[in-house]
Amino acid sequence: MSATARPRRLTPMDVRARKGDTPLVCLTAYTTPVARLVDGDCDVVLVGDSVGMVLHGLPSTLGVTMEMMILHGQAVDRGLSHALMVIDMPFGSYEESPEQAFRNAARLMAETGAGAVKLEGGVAMAETIRFLTARSIPVMGHVGLTPQAINALGGYKVQGRGADAARVLADAKAVAEAGAFSVVLEKVPAALADRVTGEIAIPTIGIGASAGCDGQILVVDDMLGLFTDFRPKFAKAYAELGQAAGAAIAAYAEDVRARRFPAPEHVFADSPGASS
Ligand code: KIV
Repeated sequence: MSATARPRRLTPMDVRARKGDTPLVCLTAYTTPVARLVDGDCDVVLVGDSVGMVLHGLPSTLGVTMEMMILHGQAVDRGLSHALMVIDMPFGSYEESPEQAFRNAARLMAETGAGAVKLEGGVAMAETIRFLTARSIPVMGHVGLTPQAINALGGYKVQGRGADAARVLADAKAVAEAGAFSVVLEKVPAALADRVTGEIAIPTIGIGASAGCDGQILVVDDMLGLFTDFRPKFAKAYAELGQAAGAAIAAYAEDVRARRFPAPEHVFADSPGASS
């Protein structure tokens, strides 16, 4: 395929330009087949550090490593031809200094083909976001509930209720002013999400936020009903694939025990015939 015929992937600038326009559709993906499934319908595919909980059974995202992100990033990249791929910077890979963040962000992008990185934190991370964006690393911010900070936040609680709204607003403004091209708003009151969306110049991507955000993101396994460990209120399940898979596995087990599987059409004859 010639370079001109190759479908163009969305860029951070395309996403930035969607402020106030048709809402951005975003999902996570961690594998090639799921990336292929979501690519056509999504503007942004996030290789989220939620991979640690969803696919690796970790109790939180804190144990996710650079190596895990790179392996899953490479897999997702192979499945995308349209959406912008954003990759999460794992806990401990960027907080120490802007230089540490640059080293690890550059590695994530170079080794996976991601078009941007996402990192958690507002005012405290503004200097780092400025440092990265000045050095050609597009950054998606993430404020409100930041799961890498659960120990400091005391759990997965709604952020920004009452007087705390000012803190979340300041975080979102700091991320936008530092040069991020978009920002995830997680688990904040809907009215606050609408206010933030109205007061910053970059697209807000809501998760547990508001339909008034400039886009929405969900963990793909949550919206498919596959991740059954727990289901947050905001994670609408558009299918119950976990239940369907359980029923299929039980039917297979019954067939094997009753010697109904494999049936004649699943086995091979001694000499190759029409169906070999
Ligand atoms: O890791 C992740 O999947 C995320 C999204 C839920 C925003 O950060």
